[in-house]
Amino acid sequence: MNDPDWAAQNIDTNQPSAARMYDYYLGGSHNFASDRQAAGKVLELLPDAPLMAQANRAFLHRSVRFLVDQGVRQFIDLGSGIPTAGNVHEVAPESTVVYVDIDPVAVAYSEAILSDVSRAAIVHADARQPEKVLESPVTQGLLDFDQPIGLLMVAVLHFVAESEDPANMVATFRDALPAGSAIALAHVTLDERPEEMERITAIYQNSANPTTFRTRQQIDGLLTGWDLVDPGVTWVVEWRPDWPDDADGNSAWCGNYGAVGWKQ
Ligand SMILES: C[S@@+](CC[C@H](N)C(=O)[O-])C[C@H]1O[C@@H](n2cnc3c(N)ncnc32)[C@H](O)[C@@H]1O
Repeated sequence: MNDPDWAAQNIDTNQPSAARMYDYYLGGSHNFASDRQAAGKVLELLPDAPLMAQANRAFLHRSVRFLVDQGVRQFIDLGSGIPTAGNVHEVAPESTVVYVDIDPVAVAYSEAILSDVSRAAIVHADARQPEKVLESPVTQGLLDFDQPIGLLMVAVLHFVAESEDPANMVATFRDALPAGSAIALAHVTLDERPEEMERITAIYQNSANPTTFRTRQQIDGLLTGWDLVDPGVTWVVEWRPDWPDDADGNSAWCGNYGAVGWKQ
């Protein structure tokens, strides 16, 4: 059988990818048998993984809506993933969005759904090389670097190893953005269920995107130089919830810290 249109050429469908495993957790159909098998192992350890993925998406949506309310009209969405319900250009319909992903399927499907959208596009790049993202003709063509830009790093930095200096990566992006820009960050932690998270790290080790889950303290360190808005770094479900019941003080199940901050 021929590969479907979204299956970009030159990909190893036998090696799972974080983008396609995440698509599977979210109930999407842009994944292969290898992705479903690896995701199945994760689900044995963390049956809540689909809920965690949904909570992460909900944080993305709330943080983008918050930034739009504050006047931000341009976004760089690093590790944007395989398009799903509520993509950033849909949540922020009057904004310009540069999506960035390393995964060929995420890029192929994004290109397909963005083909008739003039104010959003995707860059196929490795976010660990900020200059490739920032200097891309797509980025330069779409964004005005004299106006505030919302930098979205939602569930992507845990694919950057300590040896790859994630703090420097964040700082390089921050330095390239004008004052009044903002970051929205979500990062899976190993503070809760450390044993399970270690075993999940072992599963992702065989994927195209090995994980480095971090402690709360390490995640705080990644946000140096950003002026965090209330409530600071918190479980994603407790970050300005739409409904107060979502923040019932029992939120560690989501395993994911979130924060939003401004560049002064
Ligand atoms: C868990 S998904 C998150 C998707 C989306 N940001 C969200 O929160 O719903 C992580 C995404 O980051 C991408 N990714 C991982 N490492 C990357 C890198 N170095 N550069 C760009 N994208 C990367 C993966 O391909 C995947 O699409």
